[in-house]
Amino acid sequence: MPTYILGIESSCDDTSASVLCDGKVLSNLTANQEIHKSFGGVVPELASRAHQQNIIPVVNQAIINANIDKNQLNAIAYTRGPGLLGSLLVGSSFAKSLSMGLNVPLIEVNHMQAHLLAHFIEDCGDEKPTFPFIGVTISGGHTQIVLVKNYFEMEIIGETLDDAIGETFDKCGKMLGLPYPAGPHIDKHSKNGDSKKYKFTKPKVGGLNYSFSGLKTGFMRYIQKEKMNNESFVSNELENLCASLQNTIVEILFDKIVLAIKQTGIHKVVFGGGVSCNSGIIQKFKHNENIENYKSYFPKFEYTTDNAAMIAMVGFLKFNNDDFSTLEKSAQARFKL
Ligand code: KG4
Ligand code: ZN
Repeated sequence: MPTYILGIESSCDDTSASVLCDGKVLSNLTANQEIHKSFGGVVPELASRAHQQNIIPVVNQAIINANIDKNQLNAIAYTRGPGLLGSLLVGSSFAKSLSMGLNVPLIEVNHMQAHLLAHFIEDCGDEKPTFPFIGVTISGGHTQIVLVKNYFEMEIIGETLDDAIGETFDKCGKMLGLPYPAGPHIDKHSKNGDSKKYKFTKPKVGGLNYSFSGLKTGFMRYIQKEKMNNESFVSNELENLCASLQNTIVEILFDKIVLAIKQTGIHKVVFGGGVSCNSGIIQKFKHNENIENYKSYFPKFEYTTDNAAMIAMVGFLKFNNDDFSTLEKSAQARFKL
């Protein structure tokens, strides 16, 4: 008998629902919230209100697109955390009600674990990583180096002490007048820029931890200073500024991963999270595979950013492991791996 899992994701500003059949995606759709663009960042209260409006149509459409009846679902998997509490509450309350209504088990999923396990979705990539591997979660809220021993045993061995990598792209992009989220825009403008033209501060943090706040502040001060001399500095130099900033971020990320490979003796590096579609990151890690002796894995584009297919995938793995949740478990804004 095939196993049908419905996944629900609502940790930030995307309302997403997906149906998987034995790890194969039958449907995966997301309602993005345009409303945050004019604020230059996600406004938590507006995000939870939009989730409330979107959740029923999105889940309904995911079931229709999967071409199944809701009574065929074997379990409901939902994001318990980490994320914005008001947003998580909408998805978790809906998932609990639906599991009660359909009388099927409820499965809680850690959003960061799901970003890494997205690689096991059937059509995620040509080759699936084998355990153990070094997981790298890079998103708007997280920057973590994770020792992944198996599907469910993960240990954070390095993380950012301040800003996340995606947040750094977004905040520096805002200083350049780019729309939110600025990460994809910086990536696009970088393509025609000179990545060596400007040098920005790199952090001096020991071990496998990251820090991006110094780079952000240094970048802001530099832009402000140059704009005092020349108002058109940013518009004249946009491509070079984006390319140089992106190059600095990529180098900071890369150096610690090389250290993690040396320290753990593990030569597989698996990326997850919205920033893992960045072309500079992919290029750098692919180019250095033979030089530094590792293999890198990047998810298919639609599974990099927040999506419910990755939640349903973890749901499927947990379902096979009889790992179910209860109605008493509440949403967790801070939720450890
Ligand atoms: O995983 P995600 O969709 O949401 C969170 O859980 O945070 O990641 C969103 C982040 C944003 O900061 C966005 O700017 C960044 O991913 N991002 C990128 C690119 N595409 C998305 N950053 C750099 N280059 C990109 N191409
Ligand atoms: Zn995410």
